Amino acid sequence: MIPMTSPTPIERPDPQSRPASDASTPPPPPTPPSVFTFPNRILFGTGAVDSLAEELKRLGVTRPMIVTDPGVIAAGLVDRAAGAIDPVPGVFSGVSANPTEADVLSGLAVYREAECDGLVAIGGGSPIDAAKAIRLLVTHPGELADYDLTTGGLERIQPGMPPMVAVPTTAGTGSEAGRGTLIQLPSTGRKTIALSPHLLPSSAICDPELTLGLPPALTAATGMDALTHCVESFLSTTFHPICDGIAVEGLRSIFHGLETAVHDGGNLDARTSMMMGSLLGGISFHKGLGVVHSLSHALGAEGRLHHGTLNAILLPHALRFNRATASPRVAELARRMGLGRSGDAEGHLITLTELLLARLPLPRRLGDLDGLDRARIPHYARLALLDHCHRTNPRPCSVADLEELLGRAW
Ligand SMILES: NC(=O)c1ccc[n+]([C@@H]2O[C@H](COP(=O)([O-])OP(=O)(O)OC[C@H]3O[C@@H](n4cnc5c(N)ncnc54)[C@H](O)[C@@H]3O)[C@@H](O)[C@H]2O)c1
Ligand SMILES: [Fe+2]
Repeated sequence: MIPMTSPTPIERPDPQSRPASDASTPPPPPTPPSVFTFPNRILFGTGAVDSLAEELKRLGVTRPMIVTDPGVIAAGLVDRAAGAIDPVPGVFSGVSANPTEADVLSGLAVYREAECDGLVAIGGGSPIDAAKAIRLLVTHPGELADYDLTTGGLERIQPGMPPMVAVPTTAGTGSEAGRGTLIQLPSTGRKTIALSPHLLPSSAICDPELTLGLPPALTAATGMDALTHCVESFLSTTFHPICDGIAVEGLRSIFHGLETAVHDGGNLDARTSMMMGSLLGGISFHKGLGVVHSLSHALGAEGRLHHGTLNAILLPHALRFNRATASPRVAELARRMGLGRSGDAEGHLITLTELLLARLPLPRRLGDLDGLDRARIPHYARLALLDHCHRTNPRPCSVADLEELLGRAW
């Protein structure tokens, strides 16, 4: 079981100290970003990315390496986030969606060649996870498979890695506040997780402005990843009421922001809700996830498909599957969301999720995706069984259950 940590007080600017504003006075200057230190140091708010250079200085990093991908560069976000950093001795921009061991080794070579002393990941979960894995190999011998959580890797991961700042540009994975990194390894044939508290980024800078240009389909898919984190972590079998409360708050934020962020991408309020919902989802799943993630990890490795899109398709089927034996817990989540106080609360939650999905620009069936083969369901189910996430699912999963779930979602 994961030890519980108490949240430290949140440092916020005092709202009383803001100047009063009315129609005749100019708006107040932007407030500085809020600073949280649970579970890691998090700078959150519009313009927070302007603090990157200062944050690197605070961490003692003088030769940073940026880890990113071509889409993030094309969107102008590396210039926006790191334009003020001088010098930037290393840039590794070759991260694939569903990052691979080859990506990590290429990034490690750049890090060593440029004699860097810290990392800045700018991008979605793929660059952030790749940077965590590079950071691991800077100080740890052997190969990534040696640190696989499912074969005892947790014990082998030691402190002392170089500092890392994570700057998310999607609102989905929460990897900026997470202890895990998922890399596709040829030697295991699957997306393999290394997990340790030492892998938590030294700092996260969550600036919703960086997501204003995220296209609608990616906004929807990454947002559904965040939503799935909140649902699965709440339902996970680990006892962790702090994370439960965070999951509920994350869900509220996501239901508030997701549809608007998809259909009106420039809406900063919706983008802020999504950035916060994603962060809360990433914190809440310190208590574990569930069967949706085991299946999406298996399928993501096979078809190189987007993680959040897979979760969006699988989630309603998994909720029905879990409802059969974990009905009170699903109902509790629904009630804490303010749904169905007098009636079928869990039914309301499933319906609400399906109504939301119906209004998002996402495929609804696995059969709609390129790269998957229905005849390979038994193989996908076997890969999913090897994944760690379903171990905290509220209903135990056999290979037959996993095959049936995939069949229903096809
Ligand atoms: N470590 C964790 O805790 C954790 C949790 C969930 C998911 N993940 C992993 O994260 C990865 C998925 O990450 P993701 O969903 O953020 O997608 P991603 O990082 O793979 O990015 C998807 C695409 O979006 C583009 N993009 C990113 N930000 C953009 C922006 N602001 N504007 C325009 N384009 C932008 C990228 O260039 C890329 O082409 C998967 O590998 C998944 O396994 C990790
Ligand atoms: Fe996820």
